[in-house]
Amino acid sequence: MKGKIENLPRHIGFIMDGNGRWAKQRGLPRLAGHRAGAENLRRVLRACGEWGIKYVTIYAFSTENWGRPKEEVEGLLNLLDQYIDKELPELVKEGVQVRHIGRMDGVPERLQEKIRQAVEATKGNERLILCVAFNYGGRAEIVDAVRKIIAKGYKPEEIDEDLISSHLYTAGIPDPDLIIRTAGEMRLSNFLLWQSAYAEYYSTPVYWPDFDEEELYKALLDFSRRERRFGLVKEG
Ligand code: FPP
Repeated sequence: MKGKIENLPRHIGFIMDGNGRWAKQRGLPRLAGHRAGAENLRRVLRACGEWGIKYVTIYAFSTENWGRPKEEVEGLLNLLDQYIDKELPELVKEGVQVRHIGRMDGVPERLQEKIRQAVEATKGNERLILCVAFNYGGRAEIVDAVRKIIAKGYKPEEIDEDLISSHLYTAGIPDPDLIIRTAGEMRLSNFLLWQSAYAEYYSTPVYWPDFDEEELYKALLDFSRRERRFGLVKEG
């Protein structure tokens, strides 16, 4: 960890892109890139914990990712399964609370159960809240929120931004201050659409498996120098 930084984000969202390109660069199968990406998660989470970041959301599998080749989809599902087996004791020990954001339908029953176990085993933890966006889509999340609100019988005049926020998968979690995307893309790709309305966006060409402590430091430093106005004008 480098020198002190004022103005750290409270919540960071990571779009962990570039695993495939990382693997290709090395003549490896795409899944080897995802495995390296999962390994890297441990490093980044530890660094976030050291910086005192309270909330981290990772984009692990989008609703669009089902369209990838079957072998890759199965590989990604297995990876989460293995990740939970391998990392859960450490997450518990380190005070990480795991939350799942996304739809459960479509996820194999066995994996659903594993995810529920990880959520249950860590629910008392408070040091770092890790939201795992798995089978997640920002538009689907808004659709699901609207359905819940209608099912509860709210009247049109009762609907406001707070009501919608409190029916999203992220209910109770503050909006992200910073979205970091690796591998150079300049898109949100359906990630935290509602919640990132005022988030700062940071893109780096570095592929996710290579995004290390130094890269995180650069992103945090960049964030700390931004002037966030939330649609207002600068005072004075
Ligand atoms: C994008 O890289 C990455 C994903 C679709 C999956 C992200 C998953 C991980 C980092 C590991 C999984 C972690 C857990 C906990 C399951 P890409 O394949 O689009 O890369 P490319 O754009 O270079 O092809």
